[in-house]
Amino acid sequence: MKGLILSGGRGTRLRPITYTAAKQLVPIANKPILFYGIEAIAACGITEVGIVVGETRREIEEAVGDGSRWGVRVTYIEQEAPLGLAHAVLVSEAYLGEEPFVMYLGDNLVKDGIVPFVEAFRREAPHCQILLARVPNPEQFGVAELVDGRVVRLIEKPARPPSDLALVGVYMFDPHIFEAARAIAPSWRGELEITDAIQYLIDKGYTVHPHVIAGWWKDTGKLEDMLEANRIILDALVPAVRGEVDAASEVHGKVVVEAEARVVRSLIRGPAIIGRGALIENAYVGPFTSVGDGVTIRGSEVEHSIILEGSSITDIGGRIENSLIGRNVAVYRAEAKPRAYHLMLGDRSQIGLV
Ligand code: TTP
Repeated sequence: MKGLILSGGRGTRLRPITYTAAKQLVPIANKPILFYGIEAIAACGITEVGIVVGETRREIEEAVGDGSRWGVRVTYIEQEAPLGLAHAVLVSEAYLGEEPFVMYLGDNLVKDGIVPFVEAFRREAPHCQILLARVPNPEQFGVAELVDGRVVRLIEKPARPPSDLALVGVYMFDPHIFEAARAIAPSWRGELEITDAIQYLIDKGYTVHPHVIAGWWKDTGKLEDMLEANRIILDALVPAVRGEVDAASEVHGKVVVEAEARVVRSLIRGPAIIGRGALIENAYVGPFTSVGDGVTIRGSEVEHSIILEGSSITDIGGRIENSLIGRNVAVYRAEAKPRAYHLMLGDRSQIGLV
């Protein structure tokens, strides 16, 4: 069995971050989301992993390399444009060949991994297996309609959902999916939809097994979901102080302070992670915060946020909350006259001032 991770796409819902970076490399608890997917696949004993890449290919290749870190062999598969999940399957056909495979969306997180589902797929050998999760807002997802435990229909973002069972971004297929992906037409948004391809399998009488997962799962395509994923993963943190915490500082709860990080006259209230080489000085870092490598937080308060490497937050005199801050961003108090906000913001940046 092979693995296929989808790491192309447009990432429009996460702009401006995705103007300059791949959303699959945004860190959750200081580890790129994509790495959780690779780990989940490697844990199934799968050693051949294809990664579908688009415009951000170089960045993804640099971060992932040849996969040996996870004991897998990674092959990069170029998708010329993000023309849909089923299109990504088609461009991978030569790589996948006749082998069954697990397809994992590179921006999804399944907290307890996928081992039991892959085992069930291997054992039962259906043509396709989908994972479903109960959600309170099914109208925002692909939804499955089951009759007597069998999947009869899949509908993208239905106005009137037939169930609360959302499609999780992990699918298992045998080679019949290529026939299905070739048979379908692009949807109204111009994409070859995987839901349409699976519907084709259902309509042709191929076996499509549903598995309802009980554990936590998240599609991190939007800011709020990214922050929630960060919260859940940080909550499982094993505390460790590898850097320096001075006597005037306090560290409470599940906190990781990485090597070469310094905490000076500050309060860190976990769950939180402070990246390698970061400096926290006269500051407060509150629960559910991931502070990236080399970040400086000085004279400021930050809570429930993700701050990427190299950024600095200096003397802002307020608290940053529910925020995602990109790489090498500077947020600081400007003393120059006239007293005004000095901004240099990329397209689609969002700032909430108090
Ligand atoms: P989506 O989140 O559905 O799409 P997107 O990444 O284009 O984001 P947005 O809707 O905000 O514009 O994609 C799910 C995953 O699949 C994600 O990791 C990107 C990847 N993907 C591809 O690799 N190729 C594609 O053609 C598409 C649509 C997505």
